[in-house]
Amino acid sequence: MHNNLLKLIGVAVAAVFVISCADPAKNNSSQNVINTKVDSLLSLMTLEEKIGQLNQYSLGSEFTGPGNKKGQDSIRYQQLISGQVGSVLNLLGAENTRKMQELVVENSRLGIPLLFAYDVIHGYQTMFPVPLAESASWNLDLMQKTAQAAAAEAAASGLHWTFAPMIDVTVDARWGRVMEGAGEDPFLHAEIAKARIRGFQGEDLAHNKTIAATAKHFAGYGYAESGKDYNSVNINQYILHNHILPPFKAATEVNVASFMNSFNDINAVPATANQYLLQDILRKKWNYDGVVVSDWNSIGELVNHGVSPDLKDAAKKAITAGSEIDMEGTAYIQHLAKLVNDGVIQETLIDDAVRNVLELKFKLGLFDDPYKYSDLERENEIVGNKQHHALAEEIAKESIVLLKNDNELLPLVETKNIAVIGPLAKDKDTPLGNWRAQAVENSAISLFEGLENTLPKTTSLRYAEGVKLSIGPNNFFQEQVINEDDRSGFEEAKQLAKNSDLVIMALGETAYMSGEGRSRAAITLPGLQKELLKEIHAINPNIVLVLMNGRPLDLSWEDENIPAIVEAWHLGQRAGTAIAETLTGKNNPSGKLTMSFPRQVGQVPIYYNHKVTGRPSTAPGQVFYAHHTDVDNSPLYPFGYGLSYSTFEYGEIELSKSSLSEDESITVSVNVKNTSNRDGREVVQLYIQDLVADETPMVKSLKAFQKVMINAGESVKVEFSINPQMLSYYKSNGDLSLEKGDFRVFIGGNSSVEEHKEFKLK
Ligand code: NOJ
Repeated sequence: MHNNLLKLIGVAVAAVFVISCADPAKNNSSQNVINTKVDSLLSLMTLEEKIGQLNQYSLGSEFTGPGNKKGQDSIRYQQLISGQVGSVLNLLGAENTRKMQELVVENSRLGIPLLFAYDVIHGYQTMFPVPLAESASWNLDLMQKTAQAAAAEAAASGLHWTFAPMIDVTVDARWGRVMEGAGEDPFLHAEIAKARIRGFQGEDLAHNKTIAATAKHFAGYGYAESGKDYNSVNINQYILHNHILPPFKAATEVNVASFMNSFNDINAVPATANQYLLQDILRKKWNYDGVVVSDWNSIGELVNHGVSPDLKDAAKKAITAGSEIDMEGTAYIQHLAKLVNDGVIQETLIDDAVRNVLELKFKLGLFDDPYKYSDLERENEIVGNKQHHALAEEIAKESIVLLKNDNELLPLVETKNIAVIGPLAKDKDTPLGNWRAQAVENSAISLFEGLENTLPKTTSLRYAEGVKLSIGPNNFFQEQVINEDDRSGFEEAKQLAKNSDLVIMALGETAYMSGEGRSRAAITLPGLQKELLKEIHAINPNIVLVLMNGRPLDLSWEDENIPAIVEAWHLGQRAGTAIAETLTGKNNPSGKLTMSFPRQVGQVPIYYNHKVTGRPSTAPGQVFYAHHTDVDNSPLYPFGYGLSYSTFEYGEIELSKSSLSEDESITVSVNVKNTSNRDGREVVQLYIQDLVADETPMVKSLKAFQKVMINAGESVKVEFSINPQMLSYYKSNGDLSLEKGDFRVFIGGNSSVEEHKEFKLK
């Protein structure tokens, strides 16, 4: 059957080849060939088969959403063999995917291959740092490489499509999924989105080491009210266009293969049925022509949202808005045919969606060889290989952010007697993070192992757990139970601290304390950890605090009392080595935060690129201005912040001229000197402030950055070009606006930089 299909499509392609050769203007671009193949296949399909292409099931042993589909196996089997399933998620491995593909290709009437999708978020088996951590490296090249490595592993295991990158801008540390994105800044987020999409997709989707990527979640998911996952989103149009949409637009510019809806409603319309987002912006304004997949049962959830009385109406609303594939919702497979037959929706709507799905299958090369990705030999060779682990170590080192280092406590020099205390010190699982795909449980290098391998043998290294962090289930599917009353390990830890020169404390969150469904109302160190830290501090204040967490935490007490603090996130496979080599100075930290760390949860949402407000004054003694009476306006650690063992001094900002017109640019430069005796890397950041605009401007916005290596004692001249595009913003109606007037350019090592120069757009 499959061979017949290929023959039929082949005839149509030969025809288009003749036509396009005769017409040089059309030139036989591969896109034309694919379009013809798609149309020709579409013309062979029944309505049921078309709808099948829009139906997606989770068929593996993992289930990445709620709902129990037990008992439906036989129905799903029948649908698979009759061409009523177009894609599958959560089924993986060369062997399993081959078997499933065979079942469908050999049995269904047209033998259209399945697409195999999976959440390859920060690695397939080799775990790289969680995306929020990776973003702190500000190293686009490395982020592209980790996505590329993840794609190679996934593709070798039979997968075609990842549901990544998540490019939701996030300003609320309470939201558990901040670990999955690149933080609060739209420009940086967009740059990282492009790098990661390029990494996943490569130059050619048909290559056997690349997979299709997904820009998700479209849109606004990161602005869930009070940071509660799946909550409603109420934002204004300015935020939508200037903060939320830019990474998605950037994704279309590098041809991301698909978009995924978000669960939330946004200004009272669920994203899955949101015509403004999916039609007006995505299709019309951005001309996007890839596939749109729903999120897990987000079509069914239109009923829960209260905008559809039943699943049939939900199917109608979703397909009309432009949600093309129904993930685990069964709304389309149950209702679309009737909606077409009753004349409620037009079949052309379905044809358009199916075209996009088939096109992706052609681009992946699945019609040439449906089994090309399911290759046991490649799977054995590529998955978890040494090069990927080495890459995981490299990026982990660049992702670490040194938050505090009083009196140069770090790097450690000849410390003889070290106590390593804390529930995460020997934990080989937490560094793997949440959304860990096929990571092997407990396979990360722990901090303790890293220290053992790195410190000289003359150092005495002793360990006490101190306290248990979690006493309940530690997995993706269940709520974790935090230890709130077992202090039985305190005493041993305190004794150890007493008899040591230095204490390294490893505290934070386990892997499953951040991620989907893991919003927290309090963002201090969970459980009894802070209490333990205080008690140890009272005995031996010579503490290096190593944090492993998936979100910004409130570290006010820690910042006030602990001399050295290292943000080590969930760093992946080789976390322990990366941290140990940083503590000992073999690695000089260069990471910078991509989300502001609040002083306390009451400041959240907190982000550097906020509006000026009508009462920004901070004059002493005043009451009537924008502030909280009980906490400073600034974050504890701002966006872009991170220390190094080197120290950098910024010279004066130089502008090539003081004004530019709409077709000009200004060169701006600054000398950055490494005033220390260690070579180090600095992320030089350029921010712009529009002083007066038609719509209230932000205090400043990141517009460019460079990560530069500066040798000890040397200076580097860092140059940027300011062009008019960097001075524009989106008005609330979505139009890009470039307005003449005065601007400020700031260049520095984090977003709180005050040094600036002014210039004019004429
Ligand atoms: C729900 C999540 O929101 C989404 O990001 C993910 O891709 C799907 N589940 C599939 O696992």
